[in-house]
Amino acid sequence: MPDEVSHASPSTRLAVAPSPNNYKTMMSSTSVTGSFDAYDPEKSLPHPLLRWSLWRIGLTLIYGTVWIPLALVTFLVDQLFWWLTMPLCWIMPCTNGTKRLPPVKPSDEKYALVTGGGHGIGRAISEELAKRKFNLILAARNQSKLTEAAEALAEKYSVKVLTLPADLGVAGGAEKLHRDVNDLLLTKGDDHHVAILVNNAGRLNRSAYLSEELSGIMSMTQLNSISYAILMRLFGEDMAKRGCGRILNNASVVGWLPGPSCAMYHATKAFVVSLSQSVGYELRPHGVGVTCLTPPGTKSSLFAGEAENALIAHDMLTEKTEKVAAFGVRRLMKGARLAAPGGFSFFIDVVSRCMPEPILLYFAHLAWWPLDNLLDPRDCNKTLEAQRPKHDAA
Ligand SMILES: NC(=O)c1ccc[n+]([C@@H]2O[C@H](COP(=O)([O-])OP(=O)(O)OC[C@H]3O[C@@H](n4cnc5c(N)ncnc54)[C@H](OP(=O)(O)O)[C@@H]3O)[C@@H](O)[C@H]2O)c1
Repeated sequence: MPDEVSHASPSTRLAVAPSPNNYKTMMSSTSVTGSFDAYDPEKSLPHPLLRWSLWRIGLTLIYGTVWIPLALVTFLVDQLFWWLTMPLCWIMPCTNGTKRLPPVKPSDEKYALVTGGGHGIGRAISEELAKRKFNLILAARNQSKLTEAAEALAEKYSVKVLTLPADLGVAGGAEKLHRDVNDLLLTKGDDHHVAILVNNAGRLNRSAYLSEELSGIMSMTQLNSISYAILMRLFGEDMAKRGCGRILNNASVVGWLPGPSCAMYHATKAFVVSLSQSVGYELRPHGVGVTCLTPPGTKSSLFAGEAENALIAHDMLTEKTEKVAAFGVRRLMKGARLAAPGGFSFFIDVVSRCMPEPILLYFAHLAWWPLDNLLDPRDCNKTLEAQRPKHDAA
């Protein structure tokens, strides 16, 4: 790697972008003036922070001191309007938004279906529901994890816990799950039904958009968005016929933001946020509540692999799965439209409304890279560039 840097022409040198693993080595081969030298550990800078020139820090401080008070004023005005307009919801008879929902109480024939209930946030949500004495159906691909979770929950909370294998990342997976659930419940008794649906299964993939496989784009859309929509349509209809039910859609705080380097994940979650709001409004008069859960980063296997060291997965910015699940289920039971746990969700809400889009996109991009990249943000762009498929000049 050092040889490549030292022998390249000036224009090529900038294109030889560091990968996440080697970018520190690359940075240490850069002199204070910004040009690339041959790699020499003796001459390298003691800390990459020194690469920040004073004028850049100065400008950032000036910008920060102007922006923070302005953002605060914008936010306060926004809140003022919200509170002034809120009473209209109660006065205007045409709004479904605040219609009271019949409570969903546990009983022997009522089940909560949790997709991705074997581990992570789904498992914690299943535990919260089992605590409230709801019978459970857990669905995911990994049967051994499902069985392990089912046995533990059934023993601890004395509820019935059934499991179903399901792949929701393929076309037809959600329809098959709906059929399988109905067949399974028929064997238990005529009036056994799903009273609560938790759409939770999901995955993320951090990568430059042009590096995404087409099959990956299809399966992520299928898993994170289309299966949510189909299950909500099928189980929502059953619930509406009974005049009672609850749906919890696990979106993400990133559903409020675009996110370079993780574009598909952000887009699929934005789909869930929007769909939950609209369908929730439509289903409310039928006694069915739709709650959209928008957790911040949460410690789980979702970040395993490339995104593990991303800033968004940093301990200081993440919540515990149990806390997210407890908050989500509390809001679900109340029939709330939104469940945004933690201070970070609130921060994102404010920032997304008060920041110019290019800067917002820039920070959203940084969030998907390790903290070190903050020291020289240009490295994110270089890393992204390095990931792009290279086309032959011919
Ligand atoms: N962790 C976070 O920071 C965070 C933040 C906001 C929102 N969320 C959302 O929360 C949800 C759960 O994520 P998590 O953090 O708990 O991650 P996780 O531990 O990786 O859990 C993902 C769950 O989805 C299931 N799943 C994955 N692919 C599937 C497929 N093709 N078909 C059926 N099930 C599948 C997995 O089970 P199998 O592998 O057994 O199939 C697993 O139970 C996701 O929708 C995620 O987007 C997570």
